Amino acid sequence: MHITLDSETDFDGWRQAARQLVLNDVRPPEVTWSVWGAAPGLFEPPDDVPPQDTPSGTFSVPAKFVDLAQSAILHRNPERFAILYRLLWRLRSNHDLLDVATDPDVSQAMTMAKAVHRDEHKMHAFVRFREIGREQKSHYVAWFEPEHHIVELAAPFFARRFADMAWSILTPEACAHWDGRAVSITPGVPKAEAPTQDRLEETWRRYYASIFNPARLKVKAMQKEMPRKYWRNLPEASLIKPLIEGAERATAAMIAGAATTPHKAQKRPEPVMPRTPSSTAGDIESIREQAAACRACPLWKDATQTVFGEGPPHAPLMLVGEQPGDKEDLAGRPFVGPAGQMLDRALEQAGIPRGKVYVTNAVKHFKFVPRGKIRLHQKPNTSEIRACRPWYERELKSVQPDLVVAMGATAAQSVFGKIMPVNKTRGRLIDLADGPRALVTVHPSYLLRLPDAEAKAREYQRFVDDLRMAADLIRKPARAD
Ligand code: URA
Repeated sequence: MHITLDSETDFDGWRQAARQLVLNDVRPPEVTWSVWGAAPGLFEPPDDVPPQDTPSGTFSVPAKFVDLAQSAILHRNPERFAILYRLLWRLRSNHDLLDVATDPDVSQAMTMAKAVHRDEHKMHAFVRFREIGREQKSHYVAWFEPEHHIVELAAPFFARRFADMAWSILTPEACAHWDGRAVSITPGVPKAEAPTQDRLEETWRRYYASIFNPARLKVKAMQKEMPRKYWRNLPEASLIKPLIEGAERATAAMIAGAATTPHKAQKRPEPVMPRTPSSTAGDIESIREQAAACRACPLWKDATQTVFGEGPPHAPLMLVGEQPGDKEDLAGRPFVGPAGQMLDRALEQAGIPRGKVYVTNAVKHFKFVPRGKIRLHQKPNTSEIRACRPWYERELKSVQPDLVVAMGATAAQSVFGKIMPVNKTRGRLIDLADGPRALVTVHPSYLLRLPDAEAKAREYQRFVDDLRMAADLIRKPARAD
């Protein structure tokens, strides 16, 4: 009996065929398996011979067998279909067989399932997207070479993690794509089709070098976590050797260097601000340069760089967010990650070209706590907002917008210099002491976090309406950029 499955990952096909085979009493040695399109073996019958009759009758298998088979079937081992069928056959007479970990079939299936999950985790950790196209038209493409047939299994993780960017993961065997709504799978491609460099590459390498701690270096553990075979597709890999080689010297220098003073929690650090008289605006580029060296609060220590505002130097509209996120910290630009993409969409719907707006944040360094490989966003506290406020004030003086839109509570606190509840002030036009007027609305991240689709759509619409109101307001006192 020869069974041909539709694809390497055709679990449903295997399950259906296996069920019919068992019900027809076809013993495991009498069955051979292959995948459609794969070269048939010399002695294999070229065509499918599915069991003709389905005798009535049922049999049940433990739920954990289904889980095990679903994973093990994604292993590269061509024998996996036969091993799983043998296991299924034997489970009919020994329902507890899976508890016998020393049984060769059980052990082989479990080892395969474990290898598949390990490969899936490695894919989650080592896929590196490269940007092609720019801004609104950006598409992120990654090249990866999995060991097993895991592309479909791993894709939903990326859809959740990078929900707001269009991406493709290319592999030799199958490619996964996300357009913001659904994952689709297409046939594999050669490596030559994957992009090799993008404008974020250098930033990523700089970030990696900055988080490398020579005093914590454990080469064996690192290589176990990040096996060499993955290095060729990691932009940071070229840094690993020189960083390891320099680690001993760097550690010695750390030991020889002056001890760092413990963080003095009670004492607010003096803002290290450029000594410009507060009435002097200064041009935005020189303010940006000065902000790059800001040490006014401790956030600079863990962040990659200062993320200053950007936009036309005399834009009529200034948008203020909370603080850069993970993506912004790496790119050095505000609102380029998921919240930024949502903001771009809303601006477009409100008829405001993003290129005409000056976009900035109340706090200009990324505040986070590391959780494994992820950097979890932390809300800035009042002293950090205060320490950063002079930069916002100088941006305001230099740009002189007609209208400032504060998105969320942190932005409102910076814009008004005091705590302003968003729901009480939202949608009201408020005169600021020194000229421009201000509107308060929600932060786009708030919309991203809403779990209920209906509430999300409703709140998003309110956000667009707030931006439309801003658009109407700046249209009236027209100013040139
Ligand atoms: N959230 C913000 O408040 N600012 C950014 O730049 C990105 C996300």
